[in-house]
Parts: sequence; C-alpha cells; structure tokens
Amino acid sequence: MSGTKNLGNAKLTFNDTSIELPVFEGSEGEKAVDIRTLRKETGMITYDPGFVNTGCCKSDITFIDGEQGVLRYRGYDINELAEKCEFIDVAYLLVHGALPNKEQHDAFSVQLNHHSLLHEDMRHFFDAYPEHAHPMAMLSAMVVSLSTFYPELEDVSIQENIDYKVTRLLSKLRTAAAFSYKKSIGHPIVYPKRTLKYCENFLNMMFWTPVNDYQVDPVMTKALNKLLILHADHEQNCSASVVKMVAGTGANLYASISAGICALWGPLHGGANQHVIEMLQSIMNNYNGDVKRVIERAKSKENPFRIMGVGHRVYKSYDPRAKVAKQMCKDVLAKLGTSDALLDLAQELEEAVLADDYFASRGLYPNIDFYTGLTYRAMDIPTNMFTVMFAIGRVPGWIAQWLEMRDDPDSRIGRPRQIYTGPVHRSMN
Ligand code: ACO
Repeated sequence: MSGTKNLGNAKLTFNDTSIELPVFEGSEGEKAVDIRTLRKETGMITYDPGFVNTGCCKSDITFIDGEQGVLRYRGYDINELAEKCEFIDVAYLLVHGALPNKEQHDAFSVQLNHHSLLHEDMRHFFDAYPEHAHPMAMLSAMVVSLSTFYPELEDVSIQENIDYKVTRLLSKLRTAAAFSYKKSIGHPIVYPKRTLKYCENFLNMMFWTPVNDYQVDPVMTKALNKLLILHADHEQNCSASVVKMVAGTGANLYASISAGICALWGPLHGGANQHVIEMLQSIMNNYNGDVKRVIERAKSKENPFRIMGVGHRVYKSYDPRAKVAKQMCKDVLAKLGTSDALLDLAQELEEAVLADDYFASRGLYPNIDFYTGLTYRAMDIPTNMFTVMFAIGRVPGWIAQWLEMRDDPDSRIGRPRQIYTGPVHRSMN
C-alpha cells in the first residue's frame, strides 16, 4: 500500500477521562481517527448505524470523492477507463494493480476462454429451478456451488491457485449468468465459444437460439464493455463489505462472492437498476407520466416511496457513472436508430429532481442505476437480468477487495458491537 501520513493525535474527553487517538491521512487527503484502543482504554464503543463514519480498512484500489463526483480505479479516472479499455483490462487492473500490456491482455483473454465452461453436472442444476426463478438467486447458488467442484484450490497462499480461482470465477460466473437467463425463459442453453471475446461471448450465450443465428453487434459489445467497467468496483460498498465479512471468517472465495451477490440483489443496492425500469413503467401506466405527482410522493414523510436510482451513501453530487451511462444510453439508441419513451420520461424525472430543493438539500442526485437499466433495455437485455449484469461487472472489484484483505496485516474477523437496550437480568420466578 502507498501508505498513510501520521497527522498527530486527537483528544477525546469524557468526564474526567481523556485519551489520545492517532489521526492519519490517506494519499488523497482523507483523514481518519484510529479508535482501535477506544474500548480497551475507556470501556466505550462508537455508535454508527450503517457504518456511515466507519472506515474498515486502508485500501489502494478505488478512490471516490463523493462531493466532487470523482471515481478512480487504481488512480485512473472512470471516464478514461470506460473510453479506452475493454472490461477485461479493467478486471486485470483491479486484480493485479496495473493495466495489462498486449501480451498480458491476450494471455488473460485466452485463460478466460479456457475456463468458460461450467461442469456438465452444474448445468443440470438449472433444470431443478422453478420456471421464472430470479436469475440472481440462481447465480448466487451457482457461484457457491463452484466450491464443491474446485475444492482442491483452497490454499489461497499459493499465487497459482489464486490466478486459477480468479479467472475461473470471472469466466464461469458470466457463463452461469447467461445460462440462468436461458433457464428463466425456458430456452436451451448456449455454450461459450472459444472464438469470441469476453463480452461478445456473453451476448452470444444470451441471444443465440437454434432459430436465430445471432450475430454479435460491435455497438453492443462496446456498450457492454463500458457498462461492466462502470460497475467494476466501488470500494467498501454493501456487497463488497459482505464479501469481506464472509471471507474474514476464513470461508472460501466462492462462498464469499456468493454472499456478495445476495447483498447486491437488494433494491437499495444493485437491485435498484431493475426497480428503476419498473418505477418508470409504473409512472407511465399508473400516473399517466406525471412526474410532479411522483416527486410529491417521494417527498412525503407519510409515504415510504423513494425514487429508485436517486441518492447515494457516498455521492452527494452527480454520480460520475450516471453521466457516462446516460450518454451511452443515448448513443446506443441513436446507433440502433430507435428511441425509448422511458428514456424521455427518465430525463424529465431527472430534471424535476435536480430542480427540487428537497433533493438538492439532501445531496440526492441520479446514481449509476438510474440510466444503466435503460441502456440494458436498449440492448434487449431483460429487466430481471439487470442486477445480474451488475454482478458480472462487480466481480473483479470483489476479488480485488478480497485479495487486499488477505494481505492486510490489520485485517481481522468482522464483529461489530452493540448497545444492549433490552430487559436487565430477571428471573422466571
Ligand atoms: N427518494 C426520496 N428521498 C430519498 C431518496 C430517494 N431515492 N434517497 C434518500 N432520500 C431521503 C431520505 O428519505 C432521507 O430524508 P430525511 O433526511 O428527510 O429523513 C434523506 O434523503 C437521507 O436518506 P438516507 O436513507 O439516510 O440515506 P442513505 O445514505 O442511508 O441511503 C440510499 C442511500 C439507500 C442509496 C438511498 O438514497 C436510496 O434508498 N435510494 C434509492 C435506491 C437506490 O437507488 N439505490 C441504489 C444506490 S447505488 C448502488 O447501490 C449501486
């Protein structure tokens, strides 16, 4: 790690007791108070529901400035990466710390193809799910099942085992994602092809059918590469923290990533991309496209409704990923020569959000999920697959976070504390 700078001590005083707590700064000027000795020295803990103020690690991977709307992976700006790289370059960057050169890129691509098949016994698992099972449930189950097929690589201190695990996971998760979609619509699965690169291969597995000899469109491949890059990492978000929480117990990588997929599924996290489209459809059908009524509903304290795809724990300005996704959605539609009434509605809703003080005063702006779903929709990817797409993109970030945690001497099993507020000791007599 690039290291931190010591800034001296902070003093905490309560009644007659004072303690000194070290303060340090990261490479982009973020400051932290190190409270590791707090409970031992004072008997007190911190109270921070949702970990809003709690740093759980030092990390070299991703930098976010939520106030300025900045996102960088390993120092590179998200816009530059989305413009100039393929998704597998960014996956390599996150996992290995540097962008691949041509040879490394080609070798990685070959390895990803090499590992792309699922064990045939796993293929049969898909047959046992009910019709219309959600692909996220199948994906999570398939990923944890990988640990039953590849238990021989448990020793994660061996770099070769790690490389195998990483490429296997990236490649097979994508295959399992496409199979889960085929299962959910009752179509025969399509095997990965050696001749196709990572994103093309996925699109082919999704859209080729025995009655439609699908040809992968380079516009779609480019859009998919960009979208997956936007999703690739977001430092200590909920799903990454879940991956690390599970991994911190010593559970294997597949089990940890499977748990992360479940966390990502929730509508307040990655599941929001599916809910954005459902919300826009509902505004169209039930509100006659009247965004003002929807805004009033979201602002009402009596109503738990929230505008999906708006607001973020870290970004208090426009999410930089939403900007890229919005432009990409327009580009894809333009290249296809089509339009989408839901995109027009989304832009109207965005304008209403940006103009309303309720949202501005709370730092609520469109997040990544606001426009990515519309782009997936333009690419013919069905709504129930949106969060799966997010998961495919996020895997390299989860893996990078997991590897960093493995090598971090400060890392410990995660175990928050609580303030008990229940009955004091009582007897049954
Ligand atoms: N619509 C209306 N009001 C909102 C919204 C929204 N989408 N989001 C937050 N608020 C309001 C809250 O009601 C609260 O108002 P109050 O201060 O008057 O009580 C205030 O803004 C702060 O909200 P919190 O829930 O405290 O903010 P938090 O940081 O905990 O939540 C979250 C962030 C979960 C993303 C929230 O903004 C939300 O629910 N957004 C909609 C779901 C969504 O888009 N999730 C995807 C996030 S991106 C991702 O995970 C990939």
